[in-house]
Amino acid sequence: MDSLKVGIIGCGTVGGGVVKLLIENREVIAERIGKRIDIVFVADKDVEKVKKLGIPEEKIVDNGFKALERKCDVVVELIGGTTIAKEIILSAIEKGRDVVTANKALLADYGEELFKKAREKGVSLKFEASVGGGIPVIKALREGLAGNKIERICGIINGTANYILTEMTEKGITFEEALRKAQELGYAEADPTLDVEGYDAAHKIAVLSTLSFCRWVKTENVYVRGIKDITPLDIELAREFGYKVKLLAISKLVDEELEVRVHPTMIPENHILSNVNGVFNACLIEGDFVGDTLYYGKGAGEKPTASAVVSDIIDIAIGNRYSVPECLFKDEEKLKIKAPEEFISSFYLRFTAVDKPGVLAKISKILADYGISIKMALQKSIDINGGVPVVMTTHPACKSKILKAIEEIDRLDVILSPTFVCMIEEL
Ligand code: HSE
Repeated sequence: MDSLKVGIIGCGTVGGGVVKLLIENREVIAERIGKRIDIVFVADKDVEKVKKLGIPEEKIVDNGFKALERKCDVVVELIGGTTIAKEIILSAIEKGRDVVTANKALLADYGEELFKKAREKGVSLKFEASVGGGIPVIKALREGLAGNKIERICGIINGTANYILTEMTEKGITFEEALRKAQELGYAEADPTLDVEGYDAAHKIAVLSTLSFCRWVKTENVYVRGIKDITPLDIELAREFGYKVKLLAISKLVDEELEVRVHPTMIPENHILSNVNGVFNACLIEGDFVGDTLYYGKGAGEKPTASAVVSDIIDIAIGNRYSVPECLFKDEEKLKIKAPEEFISSFYLRFTAVDKPGVLAKISKILADYGISIKMALQKSIDINGGVPVVMTTHPACKSKILKAIEEIDRLDVILSPTFVCMIEEL
């Protein structure tokens, strides 16, 4: 039986999972594709750790660049980061090797350079594990939905943030308490910045957008806001209006411009995405012929991510070289990215106001002056900084008008703290 020779660089959680999968399911894979997948080297500084996975010493290298001098068909880059990983991938491509990576940050920021290089050298660069862990969402876009124009993507694609928001929703605890719990359980890193500030999801939606809308979308093209300022009060008030709060990644065509954003979003509580809880991920993709489709599963962790990496290795083994759309390499006019001020959305606004006659009238006058129409309104008898929360949702309005109206409202002497604003997506 033929074999495909695979070299793995980086043997942390995901790399270890890939080694285990390729050993444990060796026969299953060989029976399925008629080819063996052989690990010819594993590179990691921690040689002992690799040995414990059952890799013989002669196949272990303590340095990724040294490993690249060895022969193989496919290099699997699993070290992460955007510096050494980039050099490793470029060097592997230069040597004519196919490459598999899970590195969303690298693809989001340097995808254009890397895919162009891979194309020039006639090799594949595959990246199923970069988005949604074990969920084959890249494959769905590249293959299952290949006949459709993609119209929108809405995803819960950061498990850590989703775990934190789920805990806050179900237990009424604060962001800080939920984050601590996530760290104790190993769901959040010691430095949780990328997850809670939305950048991990931004990298992922940049990758999905590039695949779907035929333009290179980078992290800098994504409007990003994290979940740190979400309070149990806003989660509870959202519930009273029929919404749940999720960190949503959205990419969609609006008036022939591409709108790409990641931010806490209120979504209808009876929508299926509202029931994606804990560390789970889900991605809704709408195509012009297929309509809405939904992909759900574990978005992180050793085994699910290894499952995605190995699916790429198998693709290469069976000659499925398709990676990113051809149109990306044409010098055509690029789709414009919509500026955040131009987003049209419904909004949730929570004012902290003095409880006295005329306050609601003053707020609604300013909103009316900006042409903003109130959909629902509610005042609660809860003391916040000596005032009460006055909450409104709006009909769709332009973000720039909302921000200008809020600026003016926040200058009123009856407003005691900065107004909390959250976008609503009716899905
Ligand atoms: N840290 C990510 C998450 C998983 O919490 O979803 C890796 O992308």
